[in-house]
Amino acid sequence: NWTPASFINETVEKLKAQIGDGKVIMALSGGVDSTVAATLVSRAVGKNLYGIFVDNGVLRKDEFQQVLDIYKQLDLNVKGIDAKQLFYDGLKDKTDPEEKRKVIGKLFIDVFHDEALKVEGASFLGQGTIYPDVIESLSVHGPSATIKSHHNVGGLPEKMNLSLVEPLRLLFKDEVRKVGLELGIPYDLLYRHPFPGPGLAIRILGEVTAEKVTLLQDADALYTKGLKEAGLYDKVWQAGTILLPVKSVGVMGDERTYEFTVALRAVTSVDGMTADWAHLPYEFLANISNEIINNVRGINRVVYDISSKPPATIEWE
Ligand code: XMP
Repeated sequence: NWTPASFINETVEKLKAQIGDGKVIMALSGGVDSTVAATLVSRAVGKNLYGIFVDNGVLRKDEFQQVLDIYKQLDLNVKGIDAKQLFYDGLKDKTDPEEKRKVIGKLFIDVFHDEALKVEGASFLGQGTIYPDVIESLSVHGPSATIKSHHNVGGLPEKMNLSLVEPLRLLFKDEVRKVGLELGIPYDLLYRHPFPGPGLAIRILGEVTAEKVTLLQDADALYTKGLKEAGLYDKVWQAGTILLPVKSVGVMGDERTYEFTVALRAVTSVDGMTADWAHLPYEFLANISNEIINNVRGINRVVYDISSKPPATIEWE
């Protein structure tokens, strides 16, 4: 019978047999699947795992460092690449959501390829593919372009002649999480909300700038912390903040302000295909609104999104 411990033992043995003393390159995102897959590979081959984690400038506040710290704690051989400026330059003047996604996807592939080519003699590419991804890629419609965009590592396997290493191919998400817990991966990482590959770039409506990212990161961090403290984080499927391209008048002390608005989004859902807006308590919303407006300079108004999917989507872009 299946247990996380038996799965780990068997998988590590299989990985050892498959990889031998080869080198495995892998893109890590800080997400559940890539972290669990990398930890299994690392148990099998140690420092012959060459993980690459890219800071694309649109991660959550402090996320890059926090995730690198966790990788270190798990003894994973991962290189963090600060590519923030490259992404901000690429996103300059881009306002169309799909165009923003394309820029981020392309730059990620560029950065990842550059780094991967530095790993001499690599023969494997590790991936956190799970069973639902396999099914989806077999469907007549092919893999959905948006949802899987952060798994896309471009034509690297062909270019470098790499074989795939996919230790989670037969697992469902809940099994991946159980394996992760058994491997000692922190609960918070394993049970965090889904976060889109293009990150905060699609939660900043219109042009993305470093300044707007900082504003949104600050507001988002207060919202996430508030949800956790109120015991609401695990009750919603996904939550996030959206920076609207709208300035409005406010008042602070004797001063008139003219600043940005953030929308708070929280949904309940099973798989993200349909979703209801979460009925968060008014008291909680009132506290978060005050927290954000009092602590994030540049935001003077907070609204709550009460739209369900369909016809709205979870993200605003
Ligand atoms: P929507 O906005 O379509 O989102 O209701 C459904 C789920 O998909 C996520 N999402 C994305 N994930 N790249 C991703 O990796 C994307 O471009 C992307 N767009 C949406 C969204 O966060 C939600 O979980």
